[in-house]
Amino acid sequence: MENEVKKKRVLSAVQSSGTPTLGNYLGAFKNWKNMSEEFDCAFAVADLHAITVRQEPAKFRANTLGMYAFLLAIGIDPQKSPLFIQSHVHQHAELSWVLNCYTQFGELSRMTQFKDKAASHADNVNLGLFAYPTLMAADILLYNAELVPVGDDQRQHLELARNIAERFNGVYGDVFTVPEAYIAKAGARIKSLQEPTKKMSKSDPNINSFILLDDAPDVIVRKFKRAVTDSEACVCYGEGKDGVNNLIDIYSCCTGKTRDEIALEFEGKGYGDFKMAVAEAVVEELRPIQERLAQYKSDKAYLEQCYRDGAQKASYVAERTLKKVMKKVGFVL
Ligand code: TYM
Repeated sequence: MENEVKKKRVLSAVQSSGTPTLGNYLGAFKNWKNMSEEFDCAFAVADLHAITVRQEPAKFRANTLGMYAFLLAIGIDPQKSPLFIQSHVHQHAELSWVLNCYTQFGELSRMTQFKDKAASHADNVNLGLFAYPTLMAADILLYNAELVPVGDDQRQHLELARNIAERFNGVYGDVFTVPEAYIAKAGARIKSLQEPTKKMSKSDPNINSFILLDDAPDVIVRKFKRAVTDSEACVCYGEGKDGVNNLIDIYSCCTGKTRDEIALEFEGKGYGDFKMAVAEAVVEELRPIQERLAQYKSDKAYLEQCYRDGAQKASYVAERTLKKVMKKVGFVL
């Protein structure tokens, strides 16, 4: 219809490097689900990104399918929002090569995630790890995404994707939509439960530092009980209270309550009560996801039908963009 408002395009992805954490869920997936109701979304399981660190083949395959099942379980409707496996859409790898040639060595050297990962995998600082952000830019730019819902740790990569798009457009005209990061205030940086100045990450060697989306209720309760707080005994947001701030953020994301409402609710109560309340809120938030997960994981045929269909839909859009880029650059088509 002529006066129909065009929905904004949204794309995001998650690496298939294991079971997702509460950080992935609150920083990204929850927003994906909400945005999928309102926008024109596509989501990917970024398996090409995952091989920048060594993967054991059988486990890697299982992780990719497992992550796909998680995304269905959080409530993404694959009919409405194409949900695909990155390596099934070959245009991602092709565009990323082209973009590599429009990205400077110096820019990639400044990526903090590269520096961190290079330090933690010093025996395998491979070229893919270095070029990872151009592949991520390709993921986004192929779909002309206007909004990219991510956690705070991806902000720098998003900034680079914008710079690459602008640089390319500066040479060839308006080829790419310049994307914007969509970083929700609450949940953008969920911290480790053990070292709350660091982000929650499944690669943390201390398993008590993260909640996995398939952790059983008793495990969730135990991990929250052990969460690091402080000696102030005040459930309120404040400087130097990283542990408590983090728990308040988690509770706020799961219950929709504001920081002030939470402070009021726990006035005069100890951290023990607060931690139990946070744990229960997380258990309740994850319960329906875990129930659906079991169902999706066991239905291999349905999963395959969804990811094949998702790849077909994504390829259609990706191919159009890639062709345009190749033509502009001057390849013989
Ligand atoms: P990845 O796989 O590490 O994480 C997926 C999403 O989860 C967010 N996230 C967090 N948010 C809040 N607190 C945390 N502790 C936390 N940990 C992770 C991440 O910010 C991310 O949004 N490079 C990306 C994957 C990717 C991508 C893309 C994203 C590949 N292509 C295109 C957007 C668009 C990554 O490694 O995210």
